[in-house]
Amino acid sequence: MAMDRYVITGKQRLEGTIRVSGAKNSSLPLLAATLLAEGTSSLLEIPALADIKHMIEVLENLGCGVVSQNEAILINAGGLDSCEVDEALMRQMRASNLILGPLLARYGRVKISRPGGCAIGSRPMDQHIKGLQLLGVKVKEKHGYIEAWADNLQGADVYLDVPSVGATENIMMAAVLAKGTTIIRNAAREPEIVDLQNFLNKMGAKVRGAGMDFLRIDGVDALHPAEHTVIPDRIEAGTHMIAAVMTEGNMVIENVVPEHLEPIIAKLRQAGASITLMDDSIHIQQRGRIRSMDLKTMPYPGFPTDMQPQFMAMLSCAEGTSIITETIFENRFQHVAELCRMGAQITVEGRTAIIRGVETLEGAFVEATDLRAGAALFLAALAAEEATVLEKIDYIDRGYENLEEKYSCLGAKLIRVSTQGKG
Ligand code: UD1
Repeated sequence: MAMDRYVITGKQRLEGTIRVSGAKNSSLPLLAATLLAEGTSSLLEIPALADIKHMIEVLENLGCGVVSQNEAILINAGGLDSCEVDEALMRQMRASNLILGPLLARYGRVKISRPGGCAIGSRPMDQHIKGLQLLGVKVKEKHGYIEAWADNLQGADVYLDVPSVGATENIMMAAVLAKGTTIIRNAAREPEIVDLQNFLNKMGAKVRGAGMDFLRIDGVDALHPAEHTVIPDRIEAGTHMIAAVMTEGNMVIENVVPEHLEPIIAKLRQAGASITLMDDSIHIQQRGRIRSMDLKTMPYPGFPTDMQPQFMAMLSCAEGTSIITETIFENRFQHVAELCRMGAQITVEGRTAIIRGVETLEGAFVEATDLRAGAALFLAALAAEEATVLEKIDYIDRGYENLEEKYSCLGAKLIRVSTQGKG
């Protein structure tokens, strides 16, 4: 498939104000959760991203009516035609598996094609399936499909072997309409789980504990539609903060929840950034050379794996040597070879990368291999000498809205070159 590219001329100091969009990783489960109630739910601040478009197509494929009205997306999950998702749609996005929980809760059956692995790792679903089985769901996996059904969902005590974000969300969404109480232990604690709890409770669910590793869900008979505003995207915010640091810039980042950014802020301060927190914005400024550091990705509130590639880009031009350990995904170092093309000095041993900081990165021809690898190369290009041609930026479009406009306003020099025939 032909994809667009960016041509970026680096070494422009970025200055000004940038606004963060609604969180992609919150929007996806929230859209899936609208399946739980008959009638029209309304979601605000849903970002216009390729992954969101896919999730909306999945909902439409099931028979939901979806329209945009003013700033909101309205989803009518009245009567569904089907509990089966088209294989082609499933393949486009892993997060389509978030419809499992809601469809089982409301209709007692669902069939999806099993999501494949992706560039960053094998990404199993055993914890989702184990949790649903404990709630009384029967699961058959055959010919690459997952078929699941249940006559009555029954509350249960679920212990997750790993605090999976998707598994926590799927089990929560199934449990809200189960009979009795469900406990999820070792639950994921990400802010997106709190956002989902808040939306479910607005729909009439009884969920407590989000943000901690112990969730309690008391099942109710039915849910009603609700209105909700998605939280700001903490990974987008973190990416902009690094852009400020790497260009010795001076930026105000609006629409953030500073608390969600704690692990990122702590590390950027360690790098030498001066950061001032306001209610829903952050002022960040960098003077002088970036300082090296070690970091390890961990489930929230640890350092997020979705920021690891961007930090590696930043530490590529730090003073001294840094060590990054990736503990969440086994194959999340694909940006390394591309960063090295730009002059970075990085070696990888298993799950650890050793980054020897260089004075400056240099423009080169590079390509995005996945969303956050693409973001890392975008940042590297902003800080590099001369021009970078960044290919396959459709991956970046999966997670960043209006990047050209947002960065042009800050003084970045970039153009998007669209591939012929794509409009
Ligand atoms: C979500 C995010 C993704 C982020 C990831 C980790 C969305 C849409 N995506 O993905 O951007 O990188 O969290 O923060 O929210 N695992 C199992 N068994 C399972 C499920 C997961 O072993 O059944 C393992 C995975 O292989 C991985 C770890 O658990 O090592 C975390 O994965 P998980 O939290 O499930 O990630 P996602 O929800 O897919």
